[in-house]
Amino acid sequence: MKTIGIVTGGGDAPGLNAVIRAAVKTAVNEYGLRVVGIEDSFEGLLAETRVRELRPSDVRGLLPRGGTILGTRNRGRFVVRQEEGRAEKSEEIYREALDNLARLRIDALVVVGGEGTLGIAAEFDRRGMPVVGVPKTIDNDLAATELTFGFMTALDTATEALDRLHTTAESHDRVMILEVMGRHTGWIALHSGVSGGADVILIPEIPFSMERVAQKVRDRAACDAQFSIIVAAEGAKEIEGQHHYQDVGDSRGAARLGGIGHHVAQELMERTGKEARCVVLGHLQRGGSPNAFDRMLATNFGSSAVRSLAGGERGVMVSLQAANIRTVPLAEATANLKTVSPESQLVRTARDVGVSFGAPDEERFHHGEGCDQ
Ligand code: F6P
Repeated sequence: MKTIGIVTGGGDAPGLNAVIRAAVKTAVNEYGLRVVGIEDSFEGLLAETRVRELRPSDVRGLLPRGGTILGTRNRGRFVVRQEEGRAEKSEEIYREALDNLARLRIDALVVVGGEGTLGIAAEFDRRGMPVVGVPKTIDNDLAATELTFGFMTALDTATEALDRLHTTAESHDRVMILEVMGRHTGWIALHSGVSGGADVILIPEIPFSMERVAQKVRDRAACDAQFSIIVAAEGAKEIEGQHHYQDVGDSRGAARLGGIGHHVAQELMERTGKEARCVVLGHLQRGGSPNAFDRMLATNFGSSAVRSLAGGERGVMVSLQAANIRTVPLAEATANLKTVSPESQLVRTARDVGVSFGAPDEERFHHGEGCDQ
């Protein structure tokens, strides 16, 4: 192995550039390898190809910078096409990319992405290209790793937003709802809700009763807490309800989640008579500089991925387990999403400190008498 390629794919996340920096410095300085950055996710391997050599001097100052100097794509021509339920992989696309990798004399790939991107990486590995994956997503929904980089920074952003919403909610006796990202999992909502002192946390894994949420707001008001703070994951939905989408999707991809926050605000105004407002945090959770933890984790992941390739591993993903990094098969890492368990310790803790998840039967969790608001 003389040359490795680096690919960054899927939604951007704080820490991508820190991974690139660590991988380049480790590959060049520790193993004497050449590094080629591939632009716009795997798309840079098609047509006239868009790649550039990366030397340590090219990654100087990258550690605190958000985004990715290589560019990324959320969906591209490699994505598995689900038409009438059939999964179609564009064989000719993979063939073209593999031929270009050979022509560019790239011997192996470090692929930084979420479950979609790492699923494509596994296809390259199956076709003979050695690959090591790095788990990236603010959603923290990748199986087989305790944390993905980007998640902790998104958590800081969402928690700061909740702190800010407390002061305006209290000043106006309002219900303030913060809608956060996370696609189909509630990790950002759960962790920021606990860190930001939310009164209600709505996550996809616990379908909620709107009446139960309204009752929580009324109970607080009865205890003279005239405001309430709610954090809702974009993928949260009512019992027997539907997901809310902000659009119907386009030729490049599926419909995008969004709108549950405004729906909850409208319903609560009607049911409680209180003013309610919704703030959609959106891509503020994806942008900006990585926090200290994500800079460390991304650096550790990037170097570990190069060491894993240099050690002869392939078809694996670097993974954080009990604060140490080891590798797991890509197939295991991309088999299914890691979701919040309603019986998890943090869900129990949230309930213990008075948080409602809008579950109709949660009265059984609260044994306190009178006002525990
Ligand atoms: O997967 C990361 C993520 O930020 C999700 O939390 C969110 O739903 C999605 O990407 C947004 O995608 P896009 O940037 O294409 O709008």
